[in-house]
Amino acid sequence: MAEKISDLSGAEREKRIAELKQKMQDAAKRAQAQHKGEEQPAATPRPRQSAEEAAPAVETPAAEPASEATAVAEETAPAPKPKPARAGEKTAPAGNGAAPKPAPERKRPAPAAAPKADAESQAPSQQEMNRREFLTYAWGGALGLLGLQAAVGSFLYMYPRFRAGEFGGKFFIGPESALPDASAAPQPDTTGKFWLVTTEEGDPRALYMVCTHLGCLYKWEASNGRFECPCHGSKFTRDGHYIEGPAPRSLDYFEITYEEGQVVVDTGKKNLGDPAGQSPARVEPA
Ligand code: FES
Repeated sequence: MAEKISDLSGAEREKRIAELKQKMQDAAKRAQAQHKGEEQPAATPRPRQSAEEAAPAVETPAAEPASEATAVAEETAPAPKPKPARAGEKTAPAGNGAAPKPAPERKRPAPAAAPKADAESQAPSQQEMNRREFLTYAWGGALGLLGLQAAVGSFLYMYPRFRAGEFGGKFFIGPESALPDASAAPQPDTTGKFWLVTTEEGDPRALYMVCTHLGCLYKWEASNGRFECPCHGSKFTRDGHYIEGPAPRSLDYFEITYEEGQVVVDTGKKNLGDPAGQSPARVEPA
């Protein structure tokens, strides 16, 4: 029969109560331990194999079996699918721990080859740069030369320079005594393209040989004592005044100066004749 705790004496009852407490604590611990044991597989993650460990060993073409046992093992063992090895990744040894034959080392390019390759790769760009620079300089030089020629041409056109004795320059006639008399026939100078005369006032004058109408070369007609143009019939006096004809003005003439006692005709400085209507020798058409 089960005895009741209340029936026990004081010391027995406390002892009994302590035993019961101990049993309850042990039962609680076992239950807790069991509970932890059930949760442990789910709580603790299964260690994952690394990709390299999980992957089958790859047999490299360079790894050769070092012994016959290794060869037999390779024949009997299922051949794993070759996996392309990553660059720099070590391949797993094939066979049963047999050391693979080291792969022949690849010959590295000589250090001196790299600068040569760089020089060769840079050579075209350098040549291209040189070609561009050359073309730039050539175009610049050509344009500069063209501009210089244009500037010089413009300057010579605006300020022509002629040597003495050629048309456009100065003609030294000589002393004033060398001039023709006022009654003498005009003296032609074909190089200077002028007729040298002495006017009724006694002044020298160098008449430009070209007609003021359309540029024909008029002639001195001694029989008539005047200049006559053969093209359209314009007529001028011995001094170059307009008489009649289609010419719009009297004859043009060059400047005459005196240098060191000599009469000088400057064919570079031409003066236009007076208008035909202002000519004192003008003859009104009938
Ligand atoms: Fe002399 Fe016409 S060119 S008159």
